[in-house]
Amino acid sequence: VIVYVPLDSSACALGADAVAQAIAREAERRGLAVELRRNGSRGMYWLEPLVEVVCGEQRLAYGPVTAEAVAGLFDAGFLSGAAHPLALGPTEAIDFLARQQRLTFARVGVVDALSIAEYVAHGGFVGLARASTMTPEAVVKEVTDAGLRGRGGAAFPTGIKWKTVLDTPAEQKYIACNADEGDSGTFSDRMLMEGDPYCLIEGMAIAGLAVGATQGYIYLRSEYPRALDILESAIRAAREIGYLGSNVMGSGRAFDLEVRLGAGAYICGEETAMLESLEGKRGIVRAKPPLPAIAGLFGQPTVINNVISLASVPIILAKGAAHYRDFGLGRSRGTLPFQLSGNLKRTGLVELAFGVTLRELLFDYAGGSASGRPIRAVQVGGPLGAYLPEDQFDTPLDYEQYAAMGAMIGHGGIVAFDDSVDMAQMARYAMEFCAVESCGKCTPCRIGSTRGVEVIDRLLAGDDRGRQLALLESLCDTMEKGSLCAMGGMTPYPVRSALKYFPRDFGIDTSRAA
Ligand code: NAI
Ligand code: SF4
Repeated sequence: VIVYVPLDSSACALGADAVAQAIAREAERRGLAVELRRNGSRGMYWLEPLVEVVCGEQRLAYGPVTAEAVAGLFDAGFLSGAAHPLALGPTEAIDFLARQQRLTFARVGVVDALSIAEYVAHGGFVGLARASTMTPEAVVKEVTDAGLRGRGGAAFPTGIKWKTVLDTPAEQKYIACNADEGDSGTFSDRMLMEGDPYCLIEGMAIAGLAVGATQGYIYLRSEYPRALDILESAIRAAREIGYLGSNVMGSGRAFDLEVRLGAGAYICGEETAMLESLEGKRGIVRAKPPLPAIAGLFGQPTVINNVISLASVPIILAKGAAHYRDFGLGRSRGTLPFQLSGNLKRTGLVELAFGVTLRELLFDYAGGSASGRPIRAVQVGGPLGAYLPEDQFDTPLDYEQYAAMGAMIGHGGIVAFDDSVDMAQMARYAMEFCAVESCGKCTPCRIGSTRGVEVIDRLLAGDDRGRQLALLESLCDTMEKGSLCAMGGMTPYPVRSALKYFPRDFGIDTSRAA
């Protein structure tokens, strides 16, 4: 009997390793033949550790399973799919999962993360095989036509970025994958790297063939040690079979890659600070131009893409641009893995086409707040994203519509707060976060963030509110317009949105203003 137990960090934090060991022990004690496979997470974190048993054509889910519950599951006959209080029925039929549109995450949680055979059996390396027979221009065109935009947060068209690198002559070009996932409430990069590492490797190899880069680096945050082990094993295995190396899939073209570990600085997720760090220097932001696509790593043309952007490329090449761009709306094509966290009943990953609303995600998928109290504010797009009040929950998640209301989708992180939240403290936290994480290169961010904390403190103490508010407004303006990168430039987003939508938390009397 085949049994899947996730090796995903979050599932393991909830005891998945202990559950896997308990299943192996119990099977041995009872003389039962059990083949344990370690998959990624299905992204339903409130059900982790989620154990799946293969019964004929179906996989039956049990969860959340504890090591202590394992003997009871055996007693009940779970290996043949018997009923049990933890039984959840066929995994694919669980509502939260059944209503998703999984393109990039199609294999995550389904396959044994480190098995190339399972990866191939589920459509893996079809995209790379196709790309290896195409001209670089044709591969770039396919990605451009798919309408894929940068999933790290900035939403720049991936195909245009690749074309810049392709068209820049150089002896050496690089592919750098930004896996320094630092946004609060985000975990899609980690889930993908742990659950389907070959998908990222395949995407990077396709990018290499497309722009003529022979070397790739995955810049991984040090907080993801499990992803490091998994990626390194997967890279070795892919190299042994010829998916990486001097002759990628018999194409006569070379591409290889390595993982480099960051040291825990948020700013190293900014692309030029990441390049500095990759070069062995302190992570300080570089001025642009030149764009990294022209002069990036070691001064050479470099494609810098987020994990999810690169992992979305294999399916585009395998199924064609039209298949991918059929999902979504306006200029936001394809799907986005939304990550639901904070005060929610059901937290986890929901991959859906652009156009879904926050209200659907928060209530239909996440089931409302965990505390049972009303959801008052939602931060979308990480610590630099705006806080949205309930009357904005119905705006379709689309890059342009979000930008129009002064918000951003970013990397798809969605953090919910109930009505016990103090939004003035959240605004203060945004400034404090910026002060701690600033690289220090430019004044509006380095000094502005510290002054921002002080001004908010004075405002909350009730000292001359009108003057403090005017100061805060002018400070936000300076940071937004004068900062060198998004860190200082976007910190005003959460601050201004908190002030605009939740003025009472700052002691501002809205009845008088009205
Ligand atoms: P940006 O708008 O300056 O650049 C976007 C990308 O397009 C960059 O890679 C840039 O080099 C490239 N680019 C621009 N013009 C180009 C051209 N003509 N040819 C080729 N490439 C070109 O934005 P930036 O500063 O890279 O990112 C800011 C975003 O990062 C924010 O919107 C935020 O959402 C996101 N972010 C994500 C985090 C995460 O953990 N994923 C953490 C912090 C911020
Ligand atoms: Fe560094 Fe902040 Fe300036 Fe960005 S905005 S370059 S993080 S000081």
